Amino acid sequence: MQIYLDTANLGEIREAARWGVLSGVTTNPTLMARETGADFQETIRAIAGLVDGPISAETVSEDADGMVSEGLEYAAWHPNVIIKVPATTAGLEAVSRLGEKGIRCNVTLIFNTGQALMSALAGAFVVSPFIGRLDDISQDGMELIREIAAVFEQNPGIATRILAASVRHPRHVIDSALAGAHIATCPFKVLKQCMAHPLTDKGIAAFLADWRSREAAATAHGATAN
Ligand code: E4P
Repeated sequence: MQIYLDTANLGEIREAARWGVLSGVTTNPTLMARETGADFQETIRAIAGLVDGPISAETVSEDADGMVSEGLEYAAWHPNVIIKVPATTAGLEAVSRLGEKGIRCNVTLIFNTGQALMSALAGAFVVSPFIGRLDDISQDGMELIREIAAVFEQNPGIATRILAASVRHPRHVIDSALAGAHIATCPFKVLKQCMAHPLTDKGIAAFLADWRSREAAATAHGATAN
């Protein structure tokens, strides 16, 4: 299982990159809109300078010609740029046409196994099932990951990787790994939550307190000896 960061915030990416766990970054138009005033090209190039791995840049055209032309432009920004297209028939055509030029694509907004299979057959580098948004409407996001993984497993010709997206909490990350996802893309908050546990904090506090009392005892012992 690899971990990507799901953000366009350079501060978050810079900090998480220092932890040594990041294999890539995903962005989308909503995440870009949160970075008020940031230029798309400059942001993608800056991310590529911070993380040595696939960086997803999403197209906003609704037709294949537009997606291909955006894809060609974005892919020229850095060799690690992956073109994100939606799970539509236009998106499939864009994946196929960009693939002929050696450009890798991430098919996003996947909500059923048919979309994942069609995207894989068109040559997608990764497919992004949105597990959190399925959970939000009382469907089982993890079951979708399991089903896609089973279908890909039974078709050895498929090299497409499964990227668990719309991750809401650390349990999603672990369950995605168990269900067969190759990658989970996480908001910064979820990445931090993955390393948080109250017993760790309590243990550190107790160790520090014991260490300080040991030092205090040693100092007191030294004063008495003198
Ligand atoms: C994935 O690449 C998307 O950017 C992302 O995971 C969307 O998730 P959301 O449901 O939190 O918007």
